[in-house]
Amino acid sequence: MGKRQFLIAGNWKMNGGPYQAAELLDGLKEKKKNISEDVDVVVCPPFVSLGMAVQHLHNSDIQVGAQDLYFENNGAYTGEISAAMLVESGCNYVIIGHSERRRYFAETDDLVNKKAKKAITEKIIPIVCVGESLDERKNNTHFNIVSDQVKKALKDISDTEILDVVIAYEPIWAIGTGETATPAQAQQMHVHIRSRLAELYDDETASAIGIIYGGSMKPANAEELLTQPDVDGGLIGGASLEAESFAELITIAENIS
Ligand code: 13P
Repeated sequence: MGKRQFLIAGNWKMNGGPYQAAELLDGLKEKKKNISEDVDVVVCPPFVSLGMAVQHLHNSDIQVGAQDLYFENNGAYTGEISAAMLVESGCNYVIIGHSERRRYFAETDDLVNKKAKKAITEKIIPIVCVGESLDERKNNTHFNIVSDQVKKALKDISDTEILDVVIAYEPIWAIGTGETATPAQAQQMHVHIRSRLAELYDDETASAIGIIYGGSMKPANAEELLTQPDVDGGLIGGASLEAESFAELITIAENIS
């Protein structure tokens, strides 16, 4: 059983045009001149800033990802971006099925699955997001909801392909709210997800898949989350928008790994 690698991923959401991206990434490179090879680091700026990000991170240990893709190769899909275009732009990760896309852009589990499969075909690592709402947690349906999302998102993804997928558990109630899942809540859900993966694949495969946590992760709470045995990194929104805090998060992961 291989050791799971930490992944620290910044989801910039709709923040940072090309010039702002250049400034933020130069600041980050300045603060993190070398990154331990035990930690993978990726930033996911908006589409229009991907080119600038790739340029500024050339020869650095930081990789670039996108926040979405469309599953068709090309054609009359106004406003959409294909997986091949992301590859050509220098991306090797893509966030798929973020709760904000599910909620504001009506993304279904079926669409999430199509997008994840397309990323795999084009050899981009999909970071597939799952997570329950506050009501679902209060109703105690959160485990079932997340099981269902995992199963549907991974439909027809083979036992070798799944090894290049990252799952992000992002409880919706913890996103951008300043409220974080407790380390125990995160660990409990990550174990739950891993056991679903063991059912869909097998134990050995499940134990090799990275499951990262997202939802108000910041330097002040990262250590207690990242030291949970099944938390393999973070998908970071707000705290990835400042070089200082994102650099600190990387350092915390380096010190734990
Ligand atoms: P925040 O870190 O701002 O809560 O966002 C989390 C998130 O949605 C990352 O994808």
